[in-house]
Amino acid sequence: MLPWTIKYKPKTTKEIYGQATAVNLLKNWILNFKKQKAKAALIYGPTGSGKTSIPYALANELGLELIEINASDFRNKEQINTKIGSAIKQQSLFSKGKIILVDEIDGLAGREDFGGIAALTALIDTSPFPIIATATDPWNKKFSTLRKKSLLVQLNVLDYKIIGTVLKKICIKERIKYDNKAITALALKVGGDLRAAINDLETLCSGKKELKRDVVDELSDRNKVETILNSLVKIFKTTDPKIAITALDNVDEDLDKVMLWIDENLPKEYKKPDDLARAYDCLSKADIFNRRIKRWQHWRFLVYINALVTAGIAVAKDSKYKEFVEYKPTTRILKLWMAKQKYAKRKAIARKIAENTHSSSKQVIKDTLPYLQVIFQKNKKQADLIAEELELNNEEVEWLRK
Ligand SMILES: Nc1ncnc2c1ncn2[C@@H]1O[C@H](COP(=O)(O)OP(=O)(O)OP(=O)(O)O)[C@@H](O)[C@H]1O
Ligand SMILES: [Mg+2]
Repeated sequence: MLPWTIKYKPKTTKEIYGQATAVNLLKNWILNFKKQKAKAALIYGPTGSGKTSIPYALANELGLELIEINASDFRNKEQINTKIGSAIKQQSLFSKGKIILVDEIDGLAGREDFGGIAALTALIDTSPFPIIATATDPWNKKFSTLRKKSLLVQLNVLDYKIIGTVLKKICIKERIKYDNKAITALALKVGGDLRAAINDLETLCSGKKELKRDVVDELSDRNKVETILNSLVKIFKTTDPKIAITALDNVDEDLDKVMLWIDENLPKEYKKPDDLARAYDCLSKADIFNRRIKRWQHWRFLVYINALVTAGIAVAKDSKYKEFVEYKPTTRILKLWMAKQKYAKRKAIARKIAENTHSSSKQVIKDTLPYLQVIFQKNKKQADLIAEELELNNEEVEWLRK
């Protein structure tokens, strides 16, 4: 079974969505290649927006042979010259035209650049065929010569409506009954990455023939927990403040909750009392700033909170703890919630009594409830009468009995 991103990859440019301008620009450039000044094209845009798919779809549509060269072919000059050189010299079996795709040149700009970019740039001058390169970030200094020689083709960030359209088409082909809201939720979640959206869809529909809203929500909760877990690793398992300080950059969760997660897992990770004391010191200071923000709206304090709970906690330890620790979600939230539920019941009962006795619920909680509880614990007959009179439900009776 093929993954859906491959099964449904666009065969022609008709199946490329949301990138009409870029597709037309490239198509014309290829068709009139002999007359072009720019001998290469550089497609750039976000992940999962069609950078790789577009050259393939174009080659297919125009009956051209596509030769793909990956970053690993650029390890050294000889390798690239053999690979591209032979591709250039060799005439296609049926004399088809060719295009050369150098995908993801971002990888070439890293530390291990063995002259790959230089080789690529040199190649552009001699290639009789269009060379198309793709990049997520084309603004790296190392690409400046390449940029000057290339037609720059920018892709759009795919908006959620376009992503939704593609997802629905796949659902129809797979005979999946979908809920429109579920599709929209999924499409919004991926931030323009269509590949991620298709992968999510496949995961959510595996073994099922329908897609409902609640499973999409579940998936985002799962992702949120994963990102928090990654952040905790980043904070706890480093002593380098520069690494730690970015830990919460991609966490889409409110600060209170993040602090509870840290609070819950800190003692599991930091075993030495001194480390723990320093770390909790940071956390408590962050908490104070947090309260000041809430009370006085001093939002600039956020910077300190972030520094304290990331870098602060990271450097609070003398050295890293090597053991693997399974971080757990905070139990405190659950406890708070349970307490709130408990008080909610008390309030509801008090309100009923207050209505019947023409007093305030506050007064009832203080003066009447304690005695009522005693009655409910000791005298069933009387308790039943009162319950009927006050129209208490079973849960409320249960609460009074405890
Ligand atoms: N504009 C689009 N129209 C239709 N399908 C698309 C589009 N963009 C992406 N896809 C789908 O998403 C998958 C991944 O797309 P593609 O490989 O072209 O992304 P990319 O921009 O090259 O991403 P990366 O930066 O990760 O290399 C494709 O197989 C295709 O199914
Ligand atoms: Mg790609």
